[in-house]
Amino acid sequence: MDVFDAIYRRRAIRDFDRGKKIAPEHLQLILDSARYALPTPEGILPWRLITIKDQESKELIAGCAREVAQTIFGASFEIFGPGHLWYLPESLQLRVAEHTTTGELWEYPRDADVVVMPVLSTGGWTDSVVPFADDVEMVSQYLGFASQNMWLVATSLGLGAGFNAMPFMDIRRRELEQEFFGIPDSWQALGGFAFGYAKAPRYYGPARPPLEGSTHLEYWGNPYLRGAFGKSGYEAMEFPKMDLIDCIRNLNVVDTFGPGEVPWWKIERIIDAGMWGPVPENFKQWRFLIIKNQASKDYIQTMIDEKKYTPWSFNYPELQFSRAYDTPEKQRLAKVEERLERGYGSWIKQADTLIVVFSSFTNWRDQPYPTLGANPNPNRNVSVGCCTQNMMLAATAMGLGFNYEVMTVADRRNRQMLIDEFGVPGVSWIPQGIIALGNPGKRFEPARIPPLETLLYAETWGNPVTRK
Ligand SMILES: Cc1cc2nc3c(=O)[nH]c(=O)nc-3n(C[C@H](O)[C@H](O)[C@H](O)COP(=O)(O)O)c2cc1C
Repeated sequence: MDVFDAIYRRRAIRDFDRGKKIAPEHLQLILDSARYALPTPEGILPWRLITIKDQESKELIAGCAREVAQTIFGASFEIFGPGHLWYLPESLQLRVAEHTTTGELWEYPRDADVVVMPVLSTGGWTDSVVPFADDVEMVSQYLGFASQNMWLVATSLGLGAGFNAMPFMDIRRRELEQEFFGIPDSWQALGGFAFGYAKAPRYYGPARPPLEGSTHLEYWGNPYLRGAFGKSGYEAMEFPKMDLIDCIRNLNVVDTFGPGEVPWWKIERIIDAGMWGPVPENFKQWRFLIIKNQASKDYIQTMIDEKKYTPWSFNYPELQFSRAYDTPEKQRLAKVEERLERGYGSWIKQADTLIVVFSSFTNWRDQPYPTLGANPNPNRNVSVGCCTQNMMLAATAMGLGFNYEVMTVADRRNRQMLIDEFGVPGVSWIPQGIIALGNPGKRFEPARIPPLETLLYAETWGNPVTRK
């Protein structure tokens, strides 16, 4: 299936046909797509997956989901009117509210053929004292990249999928489930990602806001007006097609950009693809800032260049024995020298366009208890990560090169500097990463893509999956 078809056809499915099983080779394709997701700058995939087919396990997840949903929605007057369902027509609000009040809507992992449990590392992703070692939320976007790949591949195979965060949102139940599945403390289960054949298409939705409602130009608060409303008229548009799996496996990550401008319609299409990622509760907890201004790019580049002098990551022992782990020993010193020289590269200042992706947790805050609504929660970043994955796929499919910057947003001092420089209301909106776009130059050599077996357990943590 064409990558854009998959992006726009994907839906959260919550009603599965128990009688229909996923073909093993299809499940393999879905799971395999996860490992092509971008790793952290250290080359690490900070997540693991557990595939669950056992009915008792599915029942536990489904039961927890129902109970948590009941707690959230059951006693709530809000759900019936001005609250969560504001985006539905009034005639539908009651129907959906009845379904949600009992929590039954969230029981669907019970009927799914396979539940994939995404588990996030809460610290194991780094071996040193970098400031974002404990920034679980920032790290969780990498799980979003992988989840979106799986969701899209399932869509392309005619399957349904639904990411169900509900069973793990309450801390007590999460602990219970973590014990049941044997998940150690340094890993956090984030969802019951249900896969199977849909019983019926979604009966309503989804909806997305217009681009103008969530995109700024150069500085926060300066609204972006899309081409259709501007003076310049339309550019010639060609919509290339690319096979989804091809695109997932060959993301066009570059180390340098060539000359030439990215047409505005491509920028718009990338952001639109992002907005069609999954968003829990229709929260729309993303915003985008388009930067074309060279002085702004140079400013960000300066912060990245400084990283070369951070002794915790750019020192001989760390680079030689940790980061260069996949290089044969004899070649390591040369690789370390090159790394010390290059730092994180100069592609930010070379890029034609930057898109800063923001996420928010304050717009989840209509609930007074310690769950998604009241606290930062990794799932908001997982969701924005899913959206970012759509954007990276869209860029690749349209023949653009891209790279993804997180060093500045993960360093708290730099993050504040970005917030100040671009006038971002930092209490509510947090930069999550920067997509750099342009015509491709030199391709980035990806770190080794790990075999699926190293990322996957069957039924319980630690139970290896062996290659047949
Ligand atoms: C991180 C994350 C958590 C989610 N949690 C739930 C959930 O607990 N229950 C659920 O039914 N859907 C959940 N969803 C799915 C969203 O509700 C769904 O994406 C949204 O309604 C938009 O619809 P669409 O995905 O069909 O575009 C979640 C999605 C993400 C990305």
